[in-house]
Amino acid sequence: MSRTQDELKRQAAEAALDFIEPNTIIGVGTGSTVNYFIDALATRKHDIEGAVSSSEASTARLKAHGIEVLELNHVADLPVYIDGADEIDAHLRMVKGGGGALTREKIIAAVADKFICIVDNSKVVGRLGAFPIPVEVIPMARSYVAREIVKLGGDPVWRQGITTDNGNVILDVHNFDIVDPVQLEQQLNGIVGVVTNGLFAKRGADIALIAGSNGIEKVTL
Ligand code: A5P
Repeated sequence: MSRTQDELKRQAAEAALDFIEPNTIIGVGTGSTVNYFIDALATRKHDIEGAVSSSEASTARLKAHGIEVLELNHVADLPVYIDGADEIDAHLRMVKGGGGALTREKIIAAVADKFICIVDNSKVVGRLGAFPIPVEVIPMARSYVAREIVKLGGDPVWRQGITTDNGNVILDVHNFDIVDPVQLEQQLNGIVGVVTNGLFAKRGADIALIAGSNGIEKVTL
């Protein structure tokens, strides 16, 4: 990671503060860009009611800053969810889950009114899929799911030594030729044993804050 790219992540993260409404609960994603967001959010912690978190790692960081972390089941209203991405396209469809938190990320994204994606400009792609698609799988189904993914045209690689926060395993799927991300997202979810996959196409982002050398570009659908 270059220093510049790191700096761009920080800029994208800090730009997301403009979307924080006072006295609301904030949905918080996972990853190095979100870590900058959590650090920035700490400066506003007295304005918000707390956060819901997509991973044990983000929960620990939020709590270290004294930000209350709430259980999603107790939250009815979630105006914004802030998270990074491994890839994002012009339709604000994304690949996520490089950090392994994809399932909880997708759940919170589904609940939130608005998904705000914070990225440096290296994450912007013309077509999704150069970054391998993470698929979270129930452990006993790993080999079966891998065989089914091969039938769909992907090359699954077991992320060995990694267990998700939900106790599952991850297959990173290389070489998918992704013509229709929504269809592939549904096909992967249709394999028995798949918990979720890292294509965020059906529910993509609503706003992307993309940091580049000329500042922040805000993309809205
Ligand atoms: C975590 O599981 C991922 O979805 C991250 O949001 C994504 O990988 C972006 O991470 P970075 O901000 O570290 O690049």
